[in-house]
Amino acid sequence: MKQTSENGLPVEICEAGPEKKVEPPKIRVEAKKKVLLTASEATPFISTGGLAEVIGSLSKALAKNERLDVRVMIPLYQDIKKEYRKDFRYLGNLFVPLGWRSQYCGVFEYRKDGVTFYFLDNEYYFKRPGCYGYYDDGERFAFFCRAVLEVMPFLGFYPEILHCHDWQAALCALYLKTIYCFRPEYQYIRTLFTIHNIEYQGKFSLDILEDLFGIPANFRHLVEYERCLNLMKGAIECSERFSTVSPTYAGEIKDPFYSNGLDPIVRRNEGKLRGILNGIDCASYDPETDRALFANYSAEDLSGKAVCKEELQRMLNLPVRAETPIVAMISRLVAHKGLDLVKAVIEQALRQDMQFVLLGTGDFAYENYFTDLARRYPGKVVSIISFNPDLSRKVYSGADIFLMPSKSEPCGLSQMIASRYGTVALVRETGGLRDSITPVGAGGNGFTFRDYNAQDMLYVLSEALCLYRDKEEWTKLMKRAMTTDFSWGRSAFAYEDLYMEMLR
Ligand code: GLC
Repeated sequence: MKQTSENGLPVEICEAGPEKKVEPPKIRVEAKKKVLLTASEATPFISTGGLAEVIGSLSKALAKNERLDVRVMIPLYQDIKKEYRKDFRYLGNLFVPLGWRSQYCGVFEYRKDGVTFYFLDNEYYFKRPGCYGYYDDGERFAFFCRAVLEVMPFLGFYPEILHCHDWQAALCALYLKTIYCFRPEYQYIRTLFTIHNIEYQGKFSLDILEDLFGIPANFRHLVEYERCLNLMKGAIECSERFSTVSPTYAGEIKDPFYSNGLDPIVRRNEGKLRGILNGIDCASYDPETDRALFANYSAEDLSGKAVCKEELQRMLNLPVRAETPIVAMISRLVAHKGLDLVKAVIEQALRQDMQFVLLGTGDFAYENYFTDLARRYPGKVVSIISFNPDLSRKVYSGADIFLMPSKSEPCGLSQMIASRYGTVALVRETGGLRDSITPVGAGGNGFTFRDYNAQDMLYVLSEALCLYRDKEEWTKLMKRAMTTDFSWGRSAFAYEDLYMEMLR
């Protein structure tokens, strides 16, 4: 007879007749499945954007599941926050083969929220400011990926699932399939490769395959694409499954408009592709407790949000007017974020009663454009050219409308964060924006437009500014946005299902 014990574990109880000996109950405890996430950044240690947020919050959500043993590996950059670094535990060091070289690798460990984080140290590669943008990025991340596989015997930890994220971790999948899977300890490892943005594929010259990456020439076909080494292509070919960060984007990357040239590879491997929508860390992004805000609030009591708006206007030297809607953008200033649409119609939009706040860094031309716009519209436009997580929370909470008209958007987290703070999102229906924001007309949580067209965006923005004047309807909309479930719950289960499918 099967029953469930107090702690939820299955218990087998043997029926005992009067003449039978009563056996003690046998408790069958299944071993946890070992999952290793590898990536180039993770919050709270180091972050340049959405990838880090996902590694930090997905691993935490997965670790809540008692069936999984979740660990994460990232490089030990110089910029890893001191407040964490001082508590890292040094586990030892080893030498990692990389082409004809043999490189030092120190291993540090830190546990947080049920997740074990490992930091792989090599000062020549990572003791530099920032994470990327160096002439030898290919070699730096090749070292990192090779070290991920070399560290396994050192730790005595061979994961069942190796979950690699973006091109910087793509070589983990390639090394496993070309070098390590022939060793018995590695043969049961299954790899999942997640694409956070297909625009960044990790392309390098063909002649560094053996010398730098140390991949034997007979495997060149796996990684060669359009006369380059293409690490994302290689990881798609070598992984048991590959995924991307929203169901809509999983469909879009089969199309040349979105694929940056990789659509033939995506289509050929379509059977292995899944789309799982990202979540956000709802405990960190909680207007009720967030200490970066000028005042706290909730969907039940929105009074604090009015304070946030007033203080934001004051801080940014904007006229303090409760009835003027603030339209905000917090974004990397790059083309696929739809900035051309904004440039085309923002001055038309500014004829209406609104204030516009932009926060972000990126391409010089956009930085210049928005700086100049703010100069020309004092008291209406503020552009802050900076990456500032604390200020971003003040803008998310103080604004009324959050503009995100991306040309392509694998998932996007800002629209979810803004919604959680009661700032209604206005998005183009693409990728994760389409999967998280539904139009107000259909009882949804925001405003959307379909075609990549500036006039369509302007039309919907004008609709939003108009609805803003109807306080009752607007409050209902804010509450719908704030109570939409953007947590990891469902998606963390979807990843677990995918892991199990890969292990079957
Ligand atoms: C990338 C994508 C973004 C996504 C994030 C996390 O930054 O551009 O859309 O939300 O990764 O997956």
